[in-house]
Amino acid sequence: MSDKFFELKDVESGTTSRLGVSEGSIGPAVVDIGRLYRDHGVFTSDPGFVATASCESKITFIDGEKGVLLYRGYPVDQLAANSSFLEVAYLLLYGELPTASEQSEFAGLIMHHTMINETLLRFFNGFHFNAHPMAMVSGVVGSMSAFYHDSMDIKNPEHREIFAHRIIAKMPTIAAAAYKHSVGQPFVYPRNDLDYCSNLLNMFFAVPCEDYEVDPVAAEALDLLFILHADHEQNCSTSTVRLAGSSGTNPYAAIAAGVSALWGPAHGGANEAVLKMLEQIGDTSQIPKYVARAKDRDDPFRLMGFGHRVYKNFDPRAKIIREMCHKVLTQLGTTDSPMFELALRLEEIALQDEYFVEKKLYPNVDFYSGIIYRALGIPVSMFTVMFAIARAVGWVAHWQEMTADPSTRIGRPRQLYTGPTERDYIAVSERD
Ligand code: SDX
Repeated sequence: MSDKFFELKDVESGTTSRLGVSEGSIGPAVVDIGRLYRDHGVFTSDPGFVATASCESKITFIDGEKGVLLYRGYPVDQLAANSSFLEVAYLLLYGELPTASEQSEFAGLIMHHTMINETLLRFFNGFHFNAHPMAMVSGVVGSMSAFYHDSMDIKNPEHREIFAHRIIAKMPTIAAAAYKHSVGQPFVYPRNDLDYCSNLLNMFFAVPCEDYEVDPVAAEALDLLFILHADHEQNCSTSTVRLAGSSGTNPYAAIAAGVSALWGPAHGGANEAVLKMLEQIGDTSQIPKYVARAKDRDDPFRLMGFGHRVYKNFDPRAKIIREMCHKVLTQLGTTDSPMFELALRLEEIALQDEYFVEKKLYPNVDFYSGIIYRALGIPVSMFTVMFAIARAVGWVAHWQEMTADPSTRIGRPRQLYTGPTERDYIAVSERD
């Protein structure tokens, strides 16, 4: 707490409160409103938590006005250009970039936890073939708490660490199993001789009847996308993991809650919604019609992949992915460039439109990512699962930070009640 404070006065009663101010290392300070209810009998109101800090964190910093994203202080564009997803995972979990030996040991730990229990694999056969992959992933991740009784003491740092390794390692295996179930192909087991993203592609696309060669361009593109999706401060799904975890529930249940929150089209589900929107628009001649619909308050249609609660400038991740699209599509020689051209033209037209400029709506991380996923052969229904694989690192890092903090209390917001005042029960015979 700094020696700065805010003074709040209830003009009616004359009661004043001195609210302490805490300064961060960068970014906005926070005002401690904890004593407001005690001193003035009022709650604060901030639906959607637009201006509310839910916690203190050292993991990720975002400056929405400048379009800045730092993972443990490192700019995401520098990590995208120089790092790898598992190195970024180490950074987010442990706070520092690893030495070569630390990275090698960490990668080895992760790769030796990639198999899932054989009985857990059989869960997938309980789903209908056309179950949405996010339904399968959230169900199976939650079920992991039925398997790992040996590491469920959340107060035990060793248990917290093996949970982190297990969930990061097994998310690709679970995702690939969901995909194989949806296409009716046999599961492909993880291979410890492949790196994290090559292993994922092999589990997705290898089949028993012929050899499968992972395209290094695809593996590199996936690794970069995972770096960009790894964490993002107190976003909806990460806040969900923190809130669920604050009850002391087991970590797999908290992560499963995060998977469910990410699924929504306003959040991680947007990458799937963007591709469906681009397919709906069809070609550039239809863009003005859909931009007009997005501006019409009476039309529920929104430009998916546009707008952000925090970024009121370009999402730095969207810029990197847009540059990556051209390179990956060219290197993979896919025919997906019409979809990419449509997205580029849509962005260009929208950003010249007063509505989008005035409301500071720019492309976000989800606007271009689906174009690359599709170019890698990943079906649209799996796009949000890919987001969940990457964001599992951020969820785990925040869950660990919260669980290790002795000052953590259960999250329990209050409300503004506007329902009926107290009234007596009416017997059914007297109800008209
Ligand atoms: C992610 O929080 C994170 O960090 C999330 C994320 C992460 O890494 O974890 O970055 C990942 O979730 C990115 C966002 C993906 N979602 C979408 O692309 C869905 C489309 N975008 C929106 O639904 C919206 O922009 C949100 C949900 C992203 C942000 O919602 P806000 O901050 O609550 O803003 P809002 O809905 O109040 O919109 C403000 C105004 C409104 O108009 P008015 O009521 O003021 O007249 O802008 C309009 C909205 O109608 N608007 C849009 C729009 N997004 C906002 N109009 C048309 N198209 C859009 N996409």
